[in-house]
Amino acid sequence: MAGLWCTALGYGNEELVEAAAAQMRKLPFSHLFTGKSHDPAIELAERLKEIAPVPTSKVFFCSSGSEANDTQVKLVWYMNNALGRPKKKKIISRIKAYHGVTVAAASLTGLPNNHRDFDLPIAGILHAGCPHHYRFAQDGESEAEFARRLATELEALIQREGPDTVAAFIAEPVMGAGGVIVPPQGYFPEVTAVCRKYDVYMISDEVICGFGRLGTMFGCSALGFAPDSISVAKALTSAYVPLSAVTVPEPMYQAQLDESRKIGVFAHGTTYAGHPVAAAVALKALEIYARERIAEQAARKAPQFQARLAALAAHPLVGEARGFGLVGGLELVADKRSKRSFDAKAGVGPRVVRCAEEEGLIVRFIAGDILSICPPLIITPAEIDELFDRLGRALDRAWDWVRPERLA
Ligand SMILES: Cc1ncc(COP(=O)(O)O)c(C=O)c1O
Repeated sequence: MAGLWCTALGYGNEELVEAAAAQMRKLPFSHLFTGKSHDPAIELAERLKEIAPVPTSKVFFCSSGSEANDTQVKLVWYMNNALGRPKKKKIISRIKAYHGVTVAAASLTGLPNNHRDFDLPIAGILHAGCPHHYRFAQDGESEAEFARRLATELEALIQREGPDTVAAFIAEPVMGAGGVIVPPQGYFPEVTAVCRKYDVYMISDEVICGFGRLGTMFGCSALGFAPDSISVAKALTSAYVPLSAVTVPEPMYQAQLDESRKIGVFAHGTTYAGHPVAAAVALKALEIYARERIAEQAARKAPQFQARLAALAAHPLVGEARGFGLVGGLELVADKRSKRSFDAKAGVGPRVVRCAEEEGLIVRFIAGDILSICPPLIITPAEIDELFDRLGRALDRAWDWVRPERLA
């Protein structure tokens, strides 16, 4: 699982360790408040501007994916106040999205357990349909028809709410913690057209998909869309130290300048944001990604990974095997034909995870009996085979355990 979808370079990268140690000796802390900055943050911002898949004027640093997405929401609100459109504040996310757990990010997250008893979502956060063909397409609906319907429904939602009240749309290119959901063909181009039509700011949450996971440096490029901004975290430092970032386009930056001149200060930021040690590690990680052509390598290994994953669809426990690049998901079902899920209380997902652990393999279980597989990007072809050999054996063991219960 590359930890939590994050240790892109594995666990023993001495270059990253050295970069952290050297920076600790040189300047262990400095902040980015009141016009101050430091070399690693400046260099990292410049580097991110060079490689970002979107026009970027500035980079705003935070320490986690959740903070990055909370920042996205606040920056959009701030911008629209500056632009004199104070009603344009609603943010559209999607059912089954995962954007984090802080108050705004958890509201964007489209999973009931992240809302329940936390009094979330907050007002002004809307959830559009989930682009999962296997679960939500109508009978006989092709991927293209499903994509078009989702875009039409998004447009209807914007019209219903009032386009002058809808500020932004946020999406993961491939949904991660919601169940490794790959959108249908044509989905993002269709949805982007709707966002453009209503001047809805588009945010790609690249916290999992950024830095090579889908075989391109950023997930939006793999899925064929160009957002206004991206959120990155996790593989930004290969997770060796916490760091996240949000890209800020020039028009948004100008609006921030105008508004903060009125107020006298731009009052958003956290103590550890852009921490010099984290920024130094990120710079080294980005250097390694470029030097080792990590995204291209991931693209080269993806066909083998996806073929081995797809072969598991034949297993009696698996309803759907899906994935993109070097990330995959297996949805376990009690009945393949009707796609009926197991009763959560039966604990089939956790059982497969345990069987995998007995095989020496770490996979993650996501509610809805979905197993996620997300190895470090440095995985070798031989290790990909080993991974799926072990996973196959784990599924067989779990099947032996499940079968009597199902027959009972
Ligand atoms: C797509 C996505 N966005 C945001 C987050 C939240 O990141 P963090 O856990 O660093 O707050 C995650 C975490 O898994 C994620 O997968």
